[in-house]
Amino acid sequence: MNYGLLVRPRGLAETNSPYDWFKKMRKNAPVSFDPERNCWDVFCYEDVQMVLQNFRLFSSKRNGNVQTLLDMDPPTHRRYRNFVSQAFTPKTIQELEPRITAITHELLAPLLGKRKIDMVAEIAYPLPVIVISDMLGVPSHDRKMFKEWSDILVAGTQSASPNVMYKLFAKQEKAMLDLQTYFKRKISNRQINHANNIISTLMTAEVGGDSLSMDELLSFCFLLLVAGNETTTNLIANTMLTLFEQPDILNQLYRDHSLIPAAINEVLRYRSPFHGMNRFVTEDIQLKGMNLKKGQEVMAWIGSANRDESVFDKPDVFDINRSPNNYLSFGAGVHYCLGSQLAKLEAKICITEMLKAIPTMKLDTSKHLRLISSTFMYGYKELPVILGS
Ligand code: HEM
Repeated sequence: MNYGLLVRPRGLAETNSPYDWFKKMRKNAPVSFDPERNCWDVFCYEDVQMVLQNFRLFSSKRNGNVQTLLDMDPPTHRRYRNFVSQAFTPKTIQELEPRITAITHELLAPLLGKRKIDMVAEIAYPLPVIVISDMLGVPSHDRKMFKEWSDILVAGTQSASPNVMYKLFAKQEKAMLDLQTYFKRKISNRQINHANNIISTLMTAEVGGDSLSMDELLSFCFLLLVAGNETTTNLIANTMLTLFEQPDILNQLYRDHSLIPAAINEVLRYRSPFHGMNRFVTEDIQLKGMNLKKGQEVMAWIGSANRDESVFDKPDVFDINRSPNNYLSFGAGVHYCLGSQLAKLEAKICITEMLKAIPTMKLDTSKHLRLISSTFMYGYKELPVILGS
C-alpha cells in the first residue's frame, strides 16, 4: 500500500504553507514515523537525496496494478529505461519547439481581448496535455478524457480510513483500465502504427535484439500521462505566481527574455511542482538514529530538501542568480526525470510567449488561492490574473 504517497500527513493537511511544516520537521523531527500513514517521513537534503538514489536500500517496487519505470529497480529498470529514453533524446525534444510555440499561440489568441483569465485552466493546464497527446498521437477530440484520467490518477486524500482509500483506489484502477483499453484499441487498430509519434518509435525500438511487449508499451503511455501533465502545469503556474509576487523580477524578465530559463530553474527549487516521492526499505537500517524496518514505506520530501538551510543560502529567498542550484525536483539517481528537458522547454516557451503577447499582467488578489489536493504534487487549482494593455 502506498499510504505515504496517497494520504496527506496531518501536518501538511492542516497548513496552508507546506514550507512552514517542512521547516519545523527539518528542525524537530528530520526522520520521523507517522503511525497514521504507517510511513517514515524524511526531510533533510542529504537524506532525501540518499533515499532517492540508493535503490539497494530503498526500493521503488510498488504493488500497484500497473508496473511502470517508476516502480522498477535496476537491472529491470535499466532495460526498460534504455528503450523509452529513445523517445526522449535532446534532439527529439528540441524538434518540438516550433510545435510547442504554435500550440501556445493557439491558446493565447482567444485570451488577448479578455481582462481576466484563469492562467491554470486556460494555458498552463492545456499546453502540456496537448503536447503529450500530440507526442502520443491522440486526436484533439479525445483530450478531455485525458484530463479526467490525469486528475484521478494524481489525486490524494486527507483520510487514511479504509473506506476512503478503497474508493480512491477503485477510481484510480478504473482510470488506469480505461486508459489501457484506449491505447490497446488504438495500437491494435494500427491507428498510430505509421505515424511519427512516441508509440510508433517505441513499437519499433530495439535494444540488444529485444523489443517492448504490448503491456510495457501501455504502462509507458500511462506513465507519461501521470508524470508529465500536472507537473508541467504546476511549473508554469508556480513560476507565474512567483513572478506576480516579485514584480521587480517580472519587469526584469519583460525587459530581457533571456532571463526566463533562470527564473524557471529557481522556481523548480523554490516552489517545486513535485513535493515528495516514496520508496520501500529493503533491509533494517538506521537513519539519524531511527530504526527503519525492512518493508516499511519512506516518503522523501523533495519540497523540504529544496529549502534545506544547510545546502541553500537563504533558502526562502527567490534568487534567479542562485548558483549552484542543485535542487532535487526532478529526483536523483536512476529514476531522474526523463521529461525534465521537455518540461523546461514547455515552460520557457509558454512564459516567453505570454510576456511577448501581454503587455502587463498581475494577480487578481480578490480571489483566494487554493492548493491542489494532492500529497506529492504542489500547485494551485486556479491562478486568477488581470491582463492589461
Ligand atoms: C520521473 C518530476 C515532468 C516523465 C520523475 C521523478 C521526478 C519527476 C521527481 C523521479 C521519481 C522517482 O524518483 O521515483 C517531474 C517534474 C516535472 C516533470 C517536477 C515538471 C516540472 C515530466 C515530463 C515527462 C516526465 C514532462 C514526460 C512527458 C517522467 C518519467 C519518469 C519521471 C518517464 C520516470 C523515470 C524513471 O523512473 O526512470 N519526474 N517530472 N516528467 N518523469 Fe518527470
